[in-house]
Amino acid sequence: MGRPDEHGHHEGRKSPRRWLATGMKAFLSVATVFMIYRQWSNPISKLEFSYAELQDLLLNVPCPHKAREWSSYYTWGSHFPGEGFDQARWTKTRWSEFGLQDIEITQHSVYLPRLKDQRVALLNLNQTHNQVVHEVSLMEDTAPPSSAERPFIPAFFAWSPKGNVTAEYVYANFGLDQDYEELLQRGISVKGKIVIIKLTFNSPLLERLNATASRFNQILSATKAGAIGVLAYTDTQGDEPYTEANGYLPLPDGPARPPSMIQRGTIGLIESSPNDADFRAHLPQIPAVPISYADAAQLLQALNNRGPNASELSERWWGGGLGYRGVQYNVGPSAPGMVINLHCDSEIEVGQVHNVLGTVEGSIKDEIILLGNHRDTWGPGAGDSHSGSSALNEVVRALGTALQQGWKPLRTIVIASWEGEEVGRVGSRSWFQDNMQKANTTIAAYLNVVEAAAGQNFHVQASPLLSRAILAASDRVLSPNQTMSGQTVLDVWGGDVRFGTAGDSILFQGCACLPSSDFGFLAGPGDPVFPYHSLYDTLEYMDKFGDPTWEYHTATAKMWGSLAAHLSETPVLAFNVTDYAIAMKKAANYLESLLSGHDTPTLNSLQEAIDTLFEAAIVHDSKGASLLAETLARPTPPKLQTELQTVNRKYMAFERVFCRDIDRLTRDSNHLFVPSTPYYVHKSGFPTLEKAIQEMNSSFIQIERDLLVERIGRATELLREDGGGIDRVQS
Ligand SMILES: *[C@@H]1O[C@H](CO)[C@@H](O)[C@H](O)[C@H]1NC(C)=O
Ligand SMILES: *[C@@H]1O[C@H](CO)[C@@H](O)[C@H](O)[C@H]1NC(C)=O
Ligand SMILES: *[C@@H]1O[C@H](CO)[C@@H](O)[C@H](O)[C@H]1NC(C)=O
Ligand SMILES: *[C@@H]1O[C@H](CO)[C@@H](O)[C@H](O)[C@H]1NC(C)=O
Ligand SMILES: *[C@@H]1O[C@H](CO)[C@@H](O)[C@H](O)[C@H]1NC(C)=O
Ligand SMILES: *[C@@H]1O[C@H](CO)[C@@H](O)[C@H](O)[C@H]1NC(C)=O
Ligand SMILES: *[C@@H]1O[C@H](CO)[C@@H](O)[C@H](O)[C@H]1NC(C)=O
Ligand SMILES: *[C@@H]1O[C@H](CO)[C@@H](O)[C@H](O)[C@H]1NC(C)=O
Repeated sequence: MGRPDEHGHHEGRKSPRRWLATGMKAFLSVATVFMIYRQWSNPISKLEFSYAELQDLLLNVPCPHKAREWSSYYTWGSHFPGEGFDQARWTKTRWSEFGLQDIEITQHSVYLPRLKDQRVALLNLNQTHNQVVHEVSLMEDTAPPSSAERPFIPAFFAWSPKGNVTAEYVYANFGLDQDYEELLQRGISVKGKIVIIKLTFNSPLLERLNATASRFNQILSATKAGAIGVLAYTDTQGDEPYTEANGYLPLPDGPARPPSMIQRGTIGLIESSPNDADFRAHLPQIPAVPISYADAAQLLQALNNRGPNASELSERWWGGGLGYRGVQYNVGPSAPGMVINLHCDSEIEVGQVHNVLGTVEGSIKDEIILLGNHRDTWGPGAGDSHSGSSALNEVVRALGTALQQGWKPLRTIVIASWEGEEVGRVGSRSWFQDNMQKANTTIAAYLNVVEAAAGQNFHVQASPLLSRAILAASDRVLSPNQTMSGQTVLDVWGGDVRFGTAGDSILFQGCACLPSSDFGFLAGPGDPVFPYHSLYDTLEYMDKFGDPTWEYHTATAKMWGSLAAHLSETPVLAFNVTDYAIAMKKAANYLESLLSGHDTPTLNSLQEAIDTLFEAAIVHDSKGASLLAETLARPTPPKLQTELQTVNRKYMAFERVFCRDIDRLTRDSNHLFVPSTPYYVHKSGFPTLEKAIQEMNSSFIQIERDLLVERIGRATELLREDGGGIDRVQS
């Protein structure tokens, strides 16, 4: 992806204050003219506020000590889904102090998972007395302060069914289908057994092997293989060089993963609604509990010298990091009588979640730019997701400052603080379902941030429609990493916009097919460990390792606000359909490479459809660009206004064409092109066609290919036809 050709304003570059009494004002940037204010609206307004001034505020107001202040509030005590009302009210009060006027808290009754009791222990049934060999601790060694009424939740996988199983066990690597196949080839079945597996989050090995899987799929694979229970832990193999084995102290005293750290998470299906008749059919069927690597080491040691060693299996099995704790990584099974008792007593109960929604009304009310982050967390959540919550507050503070100085946005901007993401986005999904018709016809883009800062590696996953706007925004923000002075976030990052979704953008992008993004700084290779979904994700971790200067929080806030303003203020939506066609082309080429040499249907018709779309896309983007130039050159005559609306409505309708089933907008895999699984799980486009190709099922391939050809044709028509796009619903 190249550099954007617009040059915005660098935060350091202050422009003189310019207030005009009447009329509209265009600001010319270095290369292209692209900003303008309220050329359609509010002729009676006295104060005009230039785009340059707006960008300056958005790039200068967010500050580190404020971000830390918000984080120190949000990270105190437990706020598991269902516990978030106090924080919702607090958030509303802050936003109101910042200058937002229209703020509401929405309450939704939803099903929530609840843990009542649990136990995991290694038992030796041969002994008649004292059978307990090792009792697994289901809480971290040190828990941060919380109130007695709201203690932090112990080890828990949301939606694990209730179950009490006792059985011999097998070490099954990452618990992928391929792992079980390999075990079977060695004559080892996990039928009727408990499996111990490694979690996949941020595994450099699996990334390299294109073999990542979501927690949900890990549990599903274990179920298919016949296991009756799952214990899952995070191995230290991905933490190099910061490991205990290398002599580093664990968090919070050093950068290594704490031995008692437990990675919680959801194992429910990505997007089924509890109101669906088949909701329960989509829940996992065998109990699963996350454990720490200290405990995993105890259980795995008991498998030493039993069954094949990992090093005799394929590369995916290599590199386990617990050798220094006496683990040899034999797969087992455990000796007869050496069993694990796994008891998970969980319930599904009705609870309340609360979203906070702040609206800044613009002149155009039916092309909404929505910004959101989730407020519920597994532990204190300094990284996931309160670095995002704190950054969002800084964006709101900056927007509020602009509002107080007389700014009114061109497009309506809505800010959302969701509750319930961690158990399947129940808060954003309920809000979306309650407002389906309106949301579907008015949301132009959804800009999500989960982790604003939990390391120094910038990552973006987004709809290709937004790539260009994202690149431009990242080039307006100075990088906190100033090894060479003047470097922007883009300079250090490099501009690799990935596919896909994360957090609540899984719902908006992956299921509802609305152009979305998610970005922020995360731990990458060589960064201190990010204690994801554990009680070690604290303010202290952030102060010492995650973002000690709080500059990364601030950089994300700046970029978020700047991107929102670019999208809300540019008269022609800052989308690009040519980039979308190019992304499709790349994805189709990759799928074609998977097919080569196989006697299956070809993808020729798909390739042709994309080529035709590409032609139409170039025409559409060029039309948009020239309309923009015309609009900025002189006041907008009515005819131009109609044309602008048409171009924008088509930009908005474009991605919605790729929704598989418009009646089931919240369903998993609803998007035909962008995967609805998180970005670290799935990277290529056309997820279902890819699945069909992996299965080498000719009729499945044909069905998916033909559906894509039909939809891509529809998208091409949309761009070409006179008029068209989403109907306006402006009241
Ligand atoms: C779970 O099963 C174990 C072994 O069968 C049994 O000893 C224990 O009492 C059960 N726990 C509960 C809470 O039912
Ligand atoms: C068993 O596999 C582990 C993990 O790959 C390796 O570290 C260890 O050296 C192997 N042990 C033997 C005895 O081969
Ligand atoms: C339990 O006893 C059986 C039969 O003697 C033996 O095969 C097995 O290895 C023993 N298991 C343990 C964990 O000692
Ligand atoms: C959402 O928008 C698309 C595209 O305009 C339309 O086809 C679909 O019917 C809408 N769905 C709902 C539930 O409003
Ligand atoms: C900081 O920037 C330098 C120069 O671009 C780069 O080599 C280095 O990897 C960056 N550090 C991080 C943590 O991104
Ligand atoms: C859209 O993307 C294409 C291809 O990357 C690029 O050539 C074109 O300049 C872009 N147009 C706009 C208006 O951004
Ligand atoms: C992984 O997938 C990407 C496309 O997403 C492909 O370019 C790459 O070659 C694959 N790597 C392996 C090892 O299969
Ligand atoms: C192949 O795909 C078709 C269409 O999706 C499906 O009906 C059929 O069951 C699949 N065949 C196999 C062997 O999975």
